[in-house]
Amino acid sequence: MPHVMHDDVDRILFSEEQIQQRVGELGAQIVEEYGGRDPHLITIVKGSIPFISDLMRAMDTPLSLDLLGVSSYAGTSSSGEVRLTKDLDSSIEGRHVLVVEDIIDTGLTLSYVLRNLRQRAPASLKVVTFLDKPAGRGTPVEADYVGFTIPDEFVIGYGLDWNQRYRNLPYVGILKRDVYAGPL
Ligand code: PRP
Repeated sequence: MPHVMHDDVDRILFSEEQIQQRVGELGAQIVEEYGGRDPHLITIVKGSIPFISDLMRAMDTPLSLDLLGVSSYAGTSSSGEVRLTKDLDSSIEGRHVLVVEDIIDTGLTLSYVLRNLRQRAPASLKVVTFLDKPAGRGTPVEADYVGFTIPDEFVIGYGLDWNQRYRNLPYVGILKRDVYAGPL
């Protein structure tokens, strides 16, 4: 029998309602702390699409949006190579850039992105991540705003995939081990 998406989920970590509430809080907090400076949101596709979509609608302030495509090739969790797959449409020089990520795991992607963006002379550079998995960190990098801190588990949903699947789950769940590791 083919897998049904929800049947592959071991347990739900954050429900749709919990996510909506937390993202609403984050949006309001960011607007308040930016204090009238218009944020320029740069979202790292593809995983952050649901998050940016909800977050920007929770930000009652003038803002602008751009997309950055980044792909990481990690042979092991401790080594990897990151490259740009889609560059920004416009210059960020002198702008208040807020990078929007779905998850920080090893930190490899974000540290590459921050190094790259810093060279373009933004007025300020901050990071919001929906999920933070500190246990995965190999590269020391932190977000300024974090939706939820998660345990060292394989999570899917709300943009996060396994083999490009499950991004469309409205909640965040832990994937059953036998889905990605095969039967024990
Ligand atoms: C995922 C996620 C982050 C990155 C985090 O992207 O969206 O960008 O990995 O992991 P790291 O901290 O270990 O670098 P992925 O390369 O899977 O692409 P996707 O967003 O298209 O799913």
